[in-house]
Amino acid sequence: MGVLELAARRRSVRRFRAGGVTLKDVLRILEAARQAPSGANWQPWRFLVVSDSGLKARIRAAAEEGERRFYERVSGELREWLQAKGFSPEKPFLEEAPFLVLVFSQARAPYSVQSTWIAVGYALLAAEELGLGTLTYTPSDPAKVAEAVGAPEGLRLEVILPIGIPADDKPKEPRLPLSELCRMNRWDNPCWSG
Ligand SMILES: Cc1cc2nc3c(=O)[nH]c(=O)nc-3n(C[C@H](O)[C@H](O)[C@H](O)COP(=O)(O)O)c2cc1C
Repeated sequence: MGVLELAARRRSVRRFRAGGVTLKDVLRILEAARQAPSGANWQPWRFLVVSDSGLKARIRAAAEEGERRFYERVSGELREWLQAKGFSPEKPFLEEAPFLVLVFSQARAPYSVQSTWIAVGYALLAAEELGLGTLTYTPSDPAKVAEAVGAPEGLRLEVILPIGIPADDKPKEPRLPLSELCRMNRWDNPCWSG
């Protein structure tokens, strides 16, 4: 399957089956991630792969503490969107998924956030190629989670990727058509006619 098909098929997964993933699968995903381009080729991404259930429980506890505080103060459009989608501070996927990959960026690197997220994009497509589900879960209080895993100074937690066999059948969210997103040379000129 080519990149276009993988990108079109990929969706966020928030419930996972136990098992069905090996460390070899996870390393294959990270092999793709490390090929990403980065500012000054700094390669500022660092990965903590977690399979230990005790550590997953500590990560979940730290993450949910931050989520509870976030849900208390969130308001407006975002609050409505979260409610409509049924989101809550509970993050069971942090214990359900056979593997978690915590993705960190080196804070002092040039363009560390942008570069690290490109690597995340590569990882998502590689997981899709293996038939594995993922989620880009961005904890509300990433520093708390980083502390729970004893992350070295200078590393900033960007995202947690739970990886496993999907156990939900929630469809992919709709995407805007390219005709709405793309203009050619002038802002009033669509990328194609007809
Ligand atoms: C930067 C970023 C942060 C996200 N953070 C979260 C998150 O914290 N929790 C969550 O459930 N989904 C999170 N998502 C997933 C989005 O909600 C999801 O990609 C979007 O709704 C489209 O759905 P789809 O991936 O199923 O097509 C995040 C996605 C991105 C790109």
